[in-house]
Amino acid sequence: MAHDNEISNNSGNKPFGAVLEKAVSRRNIIQKGGLAAAIGFVSPSLFAGNKFSGNYLNSQGKANHSDLIGFNPVKVMDGNGPMPAISSDYEYKTLIPWGTPINASVNAYTGDPATRPTAAEQANMIGVGHDGMWFFPTHSKGRLSNHLGVLCINHEFGRNSHVLGKSYPESLEDVKLSQHAHGVSVVAIEEKEGDWDVKFSNLNRRIHVNTPVEFSGPVTNSSAGRELLDLNNRTEAHGTVNNCSSGYTPWGTYLTCEENFNGYFGSTGVWEADEFQQRYGFSENGFGYGWQEFDSRFDLSSSEFKNEDKRFGWVVEIDPTKPRSKPVKRTALGRFKHEGATLTVGKGGRAVVYMGDDQRFDYIYKFVSADNWKSMVARDVSPLDEGKLYVAKFNDDGTGEWLELTIDNPNLAAKFANQAEVLTYARVAADILGATPMDRPEWTTVDPEGYVYCTLTNNSQRTEANAANPLAPNSDGHIIRWMDSKHFTGTSFKWEILLIAQDYHGTEDTFSDPDGIWADPDGRLFIQTDGGQKDGLNNQMLVADPKTGEIRRLFTGVTSDEITGLTVTPDRRTMFINTQHPGNGDPSRTNFPVSPDGTTIPRDCTIVIRRKDNGVVGS
Ligand code: FEO
Ligand code: CA
Ligand code: CA
Ligand code: CA
Repeated sequence: MAHDNEISNNSGNKPFGAVLEKAVSRRNIIQKGGLAAAIGFVSPSLFAGNKFSGNYLNSQGKANHSDLIGFNPVKVMDGNGPMPAISSDYEYKTLIPWGTPINASVNAYTGDPATRPTAAEQANMIGVGHDGMWFFPTHSKGRLSNHLGVLCINHEFGRNSHVLGKSYPESLEDVKLSQHAHGVSVVAIEEKEGDWDVKFSNLNRRIHVNTPVEFSGPVTNSSAGRELLDLNNRTEAHGTVNNCSSGYTPWGTYLTCEENFNGYFGSTGVWEADEFQQRYGFSENGFGYGWQEFDSRFDLSSSEFKNEDKRFGWVVEIDPTKPRSKPVKRTALGRFKHEGATLTVGKGGRAVVYMGDDQRFDYIYKFVSADNWKSMVARDVSPLDEGKLYVAKFNDDGTGEWLELTIDNPNLAAKFANQAEVLTYARVAADILGATPMDRPEWTTVDPEGYVYCTLTNNSQRTEANAANPLAPNSDGHIIRWMDSKHFTGTSFKWEILLIAQDYHGTEDTFSDPDGIWADPDGRLFIQTDGGQKDGLNNQMLVADPKTGEIRRLFTGVTSDEITGLTVTPDRRTMFINTQHPGNGDPSRTNFPVSPDGTTIPRDCTIVIRRKDNGVVGS
């Protein structure tokens, strides 16, 4: 949170809220039989009597019992304070707090406020701001291991006050410490007798703001495109930043997504934001990290580092099996504030990637590869380098369209010179196409029946207020889902609202600001929150059954944290989630992962969750 509270879409496209008010009497959508009937798959009672449909919550009371969810929920009264709470049927342990060594060259940083890691030490340690991640299990004896693998984990951000212990950097060393705390960790982890720990492996590496990276895809295929990235003159490229949510591919790689990259840039000289920089939210002081003071790459007024700003805002592919491979920025997926990248395999074996652009009134995107991913890989062509990028338009009647971002569209050709510009300024192209501005699209997930879900975390600035519509302003968020034609690859879809968070206020199931979401192979939905919860609750992870409407609270975090990131072992007996920015870095609020002592700096941490009876997590 906090890095997203801006609006930079002034396109005038019809806000999603307006669509909702006008046509999505939620009850109507559900009573029409919903998507199931419209699209024709067999699930006739999908929403009947469903607690998820807000009006039914009030009129029919409790949801139907779900066979998928049997655990004792954490009660509201227990889910607060400086330490986490978990269902009485579960147990949790902590793993890789900020400062954990990933090799033998450094000692652990354990939160002592009097000492901080050096920048060089931080480059060999787990970073801060744990966010999206994925566990890549080791193959052993022809099987995927449930006890050993490589975790790729994003380090979205750590404020200067948290990481440096001061509000503004005073040296290049300070800036580099901040930079090395951001990025991604690739780290082997192993379970022995119930405890997971880092395993020093030659696969372990830190990828951060100063790591060499490369670009690929349509923007790099022309001199004009390379000019946009300043790759004709300045061939080396470095770094990834504000790595938010993530994705993974069937060919075994990790996708890390650059979200609020604009905030790390500033200006020390004469600089004025151009139209595109405005649309991406660049400003003279950014978010106050101050990197531009000591590192000209992040100085928007620097003539030496022309177009450095356009080198960020991409989906970046990392191969966890090749420690010397460079992370690759996949330009075909467009440049915006990428929340995550959820890849599913669609018709004809095409790779389909769903992506949110998390800002108030920004959009939901989809990429479809040009061909079957296996045949592309066999030809040594990345499935993420050739394909079509679309943006979503939600119509009032529950239908929707995917609008292609292509220079072949005369409306885009009137604005842009080539496809490289269309992709680099994807937000502006989407404005022109008439995409639907949403209430901050965060994570996406695809369930076993083919529904795609997106969390819309909140939008307090929505002005098309309607007293009867709880989404104006939308202070607590909702979850939308849709089903695409042609098995994910088509350009039309049907959509509906799954739930509106505000409908749950005042109940034991209360939650706000849905952010992380993941559908497991049984159809459970895990929902993670990031924002002010009601009734004194900390942020939390809930488990929902979209068929019965049941929802239960599995875990609550610590004071002023956010719960985000989710991955599992292949047997789903172990789940990993994260507490991000515990206490917002303030040791007077929490000292997690250590017990309250009032002084130890709280550290972002992975939480390992298991059922006490060794059952599937979520059951
Ligand atoms: Fe990094 Fe929109 O959450
Ligand atoms: Ca969020
Ligand atoms: Ca966050
Ligand atoms: Ca998020």
